[in-house]
Amino acid sequence: MPPALQSATALRILFDWADLSTDDLRALCTELHIKNVRWLAIHHPDNKTRENLYRLSNVAVGPKTTINAGLFVYDSYQPLVTIGANCALAANISLIPESGPNMSELADFELVKEKLVCTAPIVIEDHVWIGANAIVMPGVTIGHHAVVGAGAIVTRDVPPYAIVKGQPAQVSQYLTPPSPSAA
Ligand SMILES: CC(C)(COP(=O)(O)OP(=O)(O)OC[C@H]1O[C@@H](n2cnc3c(N)ncnc32)[C@H](O)[C@@H]1OP(=O)(O)O)[C@@H](O)C(=O)NCCC(=O)NCCS
Repeated sequence: MPPALQSATALRILFDWADLSTDDLRALCTELHIKNVRWLAIHHPDNKTRENLYRLSNVAVGPKTTINAGLFVYDSYQPLVTIGANCALAANISLIPESGPNMSELADFELVKEKLVCTAPIVIEDHVWIGANAIVMPGVTIGHHAVVGAGAIVTRDVPPYAIVKGQPAQVSQYLTPPSPSAA
């Protein structure tokens, strides 16, 4: 598709989204490069459209999950991140399933090659809440009903129902689910 038409499609998605169905959005995105679909996901003003744009750029996002603007996923557009259902992701979160220094000579250093360059999926289970500016490192699973504090750097798996915060993130307490009668 010529660049001018791609621009028109991108602008339609970004500014004229209110009457777009999920199928319309999917059809329009077939006209765009996946990098542009992801860019639109990161910056889009509408929650539902944003979540669909992540899905259309290879991030698995469960139903009823809210993703605020500025979610960066370092995945080379491969399916390396799974976000469950009913999750809440605040603004400016980074999920890093893939990590490497690109064209830097560092890529040839032994320690960097053997230890620092890595690709490992990130899994965020259902009902997780992640605070603003959190960073999730390669290979981490965040258990269901866990809370990740604002600004946390999550380097290890988070157990279900845990509240974690800090750099590196540490468990500060565990949540007790409401009893069925109180729910
Ligand atoms: C971590 C969090 C879940 C609450 O944890 P908490 O343990 O109940 O926090 P408290 O308010 O009782 O504070 C306990 C201690 O942790 C510190 N603390 C609170 N939030 C913190 C955070 N995100 N990172 C590091 N330390 C934090 C407090 O300063 C306090 O320290 P002190 O004991 O030395 O005084 C919450 O602070 C948070 O970050 N929520 C996410 C907010 C957000 O980004 N929302 C997105 C918009 S929806």
